[in-house]
Amino acid sequence: MDDKEIKQTLGTKIFGKIFHNFQTIDSTNIYAKALAQTGGQHGTLVITEEQTSGRGRMGRIWKSEKGKNLTFSIIVHPTIPSEKFGIISLMAGIAVTETIQSITGLSVLCKWPNDVLLNRKKVCGILCEGIFPLDKPPVVVIGIGINVNQREFPHELRESATSLLLESGKDFDRTEILGQVLSSLERWYDALETGETEKIISAWRAQNYLLGKEITIDHNGKHIKGVAGDISEDGGLLLQAEGQEIKVIAGDITIGR
Ligand code: BTN
Repeated sequence: MDDKEIKQTLGTKIFGKIFHNFQTIDSTNIYAKALAQTGGQHGTLVITEEQTSGRGRMGRIWKSEKGKNLTFSIIVHPTIPSEKFGIISLMAGIAVTETIQSITGLSVLCKWPNDVLLNRKKVCGILCEGIFPLDKPPVVVIGIGINVNQREFPHELRESATSLLLESGKDFDRTEILGQVLSSLERWYDALETGETEKIISAWRAQNYLLGKEITIDHNGKHIKGVAGDISEDGGLLLQAEGQEIKVIAGDITIGR
C-alpha cells in the first residue's frame, strides 16, 4: 500500500488524515502508543505491511502474513468517562463488521469482547490500549488486524482463523477496506462522543455471537462458567451463572463448559 493510494482512498474528516505508513515495524500499537505519549494527534493512523511483534489480547502474539492483510492502529483522545472506554473496542468491532458485510455480502458476527467472526472463525482481532498520563487527558490506541488475502495460516491457527479470501474465494483491495473501516469508525466515534452509546450497544447486540451460548470465561486464573447474555451499558458481558447475573469486564472465552 503506498502513501498516495491511502490518501486517495480515505474519505474521512479526521481519521487517517495524519498517517505513518511502514513496510515493517514491531507493532503498530507499540508505535502508536509511543506517538500518543509524545503528542500524537487524535485520528492519527499507523499502518504497516508487516509486524515483527504483533500484539494480541492477554499477552498473545498476532501473526499476519506480510503484504496480505491489514494491520493498523488509530490514536483517539476520548472525552467520555474512562469507565466507558470498553465501548471503544465494541465500536471498532462494529466498524469492521459493517465493512466486511458490505464488501463481501457475508454474514459477520462479533464475539465479545472484540473478535470478528466469519463462519465461526476469527477474521479480525482488536486490541484497544489506554494510556493514562497523570498530567494529561487519557489516550486510547485502537489496534485492528484484519485477515484479508491470506491463504494459509500456521498450523496452530488453521481451525480458528480465516480470511476474507478463504471465506469468499476472492481477493480484496486492502486500501478500500481500510477506507471503509476508517469512515465507519469515525461515524461511530462521533456517536460515542455525542452520547449515543445506546446506539452503539444496540448495533453490537445485533451481532452478538455468544448470546445464549454456554461459555467458560478465564480471567486472572479464575474460570467462570455460565450462559452468555446481553452486554451492559459500559460494554461488559452479562453472564448467567449459578442463578445470578454477573458482569464480566475482561477475560478469555471458550464455548462450552
Ligand atoms: C486479539 O485478537 O488478540 C487482538 C489482535 C490485535 C492485532 C492488531 S494488528 C494491529 C495492531 N498492532 C498490534 O500489535 N496489534 C493490533
